Amino acid sequence: MEPKVSQKTETVPAEPKAPEFDVEEAQDIVFKPNPGPQTFFLSASEREVLYGGAAGGGKSYAMLADPLHGLNDPNFSGLLVRHTTEELRELIQKSQELYPRAVPGIKWSERKSQWTSPRGGRLWMSYLDKDTDVTRYQGQAFNWIGFDELTQWPTPYAWDYMRSRLRSAHAKDLGLYMRATTNPGGSGHSWVKKMFIDPAPAGKAFWATNIENGQTIAFPKGHSREGEPLFKRRFIPASLFDNPYLAEAGDYEAMLLSLPEHQRKQLLEGNWDINEGAAFPEFDRNIHVIAQETIPLTGQSSAHVTMVMVRTLAYYGLRSRQTNN
Ligand SMILES: Nc1ncnc2c1ncn2[C@@H]1O[C@H](COP(=O)(O)OP(=O)(O)OP(=O)(O)O)[C@@H](O)[C@H]1O
Ligand SMILES: [Mg+2]
Repeated sequence: MEPKVSQKTETVPAEPKAPEFDVEEAQDIVFKPNPGPQTFFLSASEREVLYGGAAGGGKSYAMLADPLHGLNDPNFSGLLVRHTTEELRELIQKSQELYPRAVPGIKWSERKSQWTSPRGGRLWMSYLDKDTDVTRYQGQAFNWIGFDELTQWPTPYAWDYMRSRLRSAHAKDLGLYMRATTNPGGSGHSWVKKMFIDPAPAGKAFWATNIENGQTIAFPKGHSREGEPLFKRRFIPASLFDNPYLAEAGDYEAMLLSLPEHQRKQLLEGNWDINEGAAFPEFDRNIHVIAQETIPLTGQSSAHVTMVMVRTLAYYGLRSRQTNN
């Protein structure tokens, strides 16, 4: 006689659960934007973006990371400028730490002051001191232009001139971008504020305006799109506390706290209403403006944002190009 099969369910001994897969560890991330403004800056799709505010917020580092979106493309042509050669040196040093890890095989030419990726994308790191220096860039075309510390330029001349160098036969794929970072203060404080801060609430994209008369810059007469607005701008405010790499060190904040009031407001609080020689230096938008509209910073979708990271072999910063105007 066959033995009766027991109907009882068997107890399976518990097995330890495999640890969760850590994407970041597995991918050997060499750069990841800090959450908040640095991520918004790196995923911004507007034609002209200013990332400005407190010292140490991670602005220059983000500026260096931004061209990594396109450097692997053979048609990428970028230019990153500082006001003087001395200031440029520091930025070059930082790029030498970051780029070879982010784009394996990338080469730096000291003679040309230029990075060239294995596929041919180029980034020229240069200076633009006097207005006449713009002739260095005459006849050149770039699809990405960055100005680090924009308020060091006393007038908008260089920024406006370089806009005429922003063109590419591959603009549809690569996008056209002008990027700037800065602290408030400096000889260019006033025009930078008029161009990027005054026209719209922080974080909100707006159609670029002429800083002389406040009118929207439009396609010219005779153009098929005559009268339509030409391109967008956005200001992204930075705070020291956005940058855990410095904020955690603590004493940097203490040092900024010890500065005279107007410098403290500019460099720690990123306050644009303070300018040396201003008629009302104690002005604080939060105290002296009664109803201030608070509009959240608009980044891209969170799925997009989490993809903005560089790893050793590939860069996933796919910003939306459809809205690059
Ligand atoms: N996402 C990041 N990953 C790793 N390190 C970072 C990141 N962001 C910033 N840092 C570190 O913080 C340092 C300070 O940042 P950075 O120089 O970009 O600040 P900043 O806003 O340009 O300051 P300043 O206003 O003084 O010019 C960088 O040199 C870098 O070492
Ligand atoms: Mg900086």
